[in-house]
Amino acid sequence: MKLSVSQELWVNETLEKVKSKMLFVAERNQNKIPYTVENGVFNDYTDEKIYWWTNGFWAGIMWQMYHVTGVNLYKDIAVKTEQKMDKNFMMPEKLDHDNGFKWLPSAVANYRMTGSQESRSRGLLAAELLAGRYNPAGHFLRAWNEWGGEKHLGWAIIDCMMNLPLLYWAWEETGDPRYRHIAVNHADMAQTCFVRPDGSVNHIVEFNPETGEMIKSHGGQGYEDGSSWTRGQSWGIYGFVLSYMHTKNESYLNTAKIIANYFIANIPVSNLIPVDFMQPETCSWEDSTAAACAACGMIELSRYVKEAEKHIYLNAAIRLLKTLYEKRCSFSPDIDNLLENCSAAYHDSRHNFPMIYADYYFIEAMLKLADRELFIW
Ligand code: GLY
Repeated sequence: MKLSVSQELWVNETLEKVKSKMLFVAERNQNKIPYTVENGVFNDYTDEKIYWWTNGFWAGIMWQMYHVTGVNLYKDIAVKTEQKMDKNFMMPEKLDHDNGFKWLPSAVANYRMTGSQESRSRGLLAAELLAGRYNPAGHFLRAWNEWGGEKHLGWAIIDCMMNLPLLYWAWEETGDPRYRHIAVNHADMAQTCFVRPDGSVNHIVEFNPETGEMIKSHGGQGYEDGSSWTRGQSWGIYGFVLSYMHTKNESYLNTAKIIANYFIANIPVSNLIPVDFMQPETCSWEDSTAAACAACGMIELSRYVKEAEKHIYLNAAIRLLKTLYEKRCSFSPDIDNLLENCSAAYHDSRHNFPMIYADYYFIEAMLKLADRELFIW
C-alpha cells in the first residue's frame, strides 16, 4: 500500500501497540470465545452461545496475530476455537447465512495457514450448508431462521454479501461452479434489490419465497425502513469489492464505489460513525464496527479503482482508522477489548460498548495498510 512517511510511521506504531496488547489479552483468554466485555474483561460464548455469528472473529484475530508474529499461542487458541465451534454443525436451527463469518476466519484461515485437511473439510461443509439456503425463485440466500420470534422464509439481508466469499472459496477450492453461480446470483439480486439510487443500501429485503417476487424492504438493525444502517453500508462496500475480487465482474466494483461514495459523503465532522446515518441528530450512539469494516472495504477498493481515484478511498479509510485510533481505542494491556463504542442495532437496549468484530476489522485494516494481512475473505 502506497503511504506517506508519516502514515507509515503511524501504521507501524499502531501495529506494535496492537501486538504488545494482544499477547496479554490472548494469554489470559485462552479458553474463551469472546463477544464483548464486562468491566474490561471478555465474556465467553463457548457454552452459552457457541452458535453465535461472531464466534469466528476471535479465531480470525488469533490467525492474523499468528501470521504477523509467529507466536504459537495464537495458533493454538485459533485451532481450539475452531474445534469448539463444531458443536454448531449439529444445531441446524442455529445454522444460517452467517457460515462465512463463522468459518472463513476460523477453519478456512487455518487451511490457508497450515493446509489442515480437517479444516478444509469444515470450510467445505459450511459452504455446502450455506449453498443449501439458496432460494432459486428469488435468487437469494435466505437470512436468519427466525427474527423477532418469527420465521421469515423470504428474507435476505445486506450482511450476506460478506458470506459470499465462503462460496467463492469453495468454488475456487473444488472447481464446482454451483458455488459461484449461487454467490453471483445473490450478488446480482443485491445490486438490484438492496442498493438504492443514492448509493445507500437496505438492510432487509423481503421476497415472496414461492414466487421470488420482491415485496418490500425493512429497516432491520437500522433506525427505520429507508434509513441507512451504517454497518449495513459497510457490509455492502466490502462485500461488493470482495465479489469483484473473486469474479472480476466490473459492475461489482462499480457498486462498491457507489456505496462507498455515499458513505464518505455522510461521514460526520467528528469522523465517528453513528449507528445509522439518518438517526436523530441528538442521538450519540456510534458503531465503531461500521467504521472499521468500511475502512477495510475502502482500502481494498483503492487497490482496484483508477489511479486518479485511489486517494479518495484510501484517505477516507485512513481518516476513519485514525479517528478510531485517537478516540476509540484502548491499548491498555489490562483491558481485553481494543475498540469501544459499538452498537449491534439501533433499536437495542445497549449501545456504545465493545464488540469483538470491531477489534477484528481494525486489526485487519491496519495489517492491510502494512501489506501484512492474512487474506480471510
Ligand atoms: N451480521 C449481523 C450484524 O452485522 O449485526
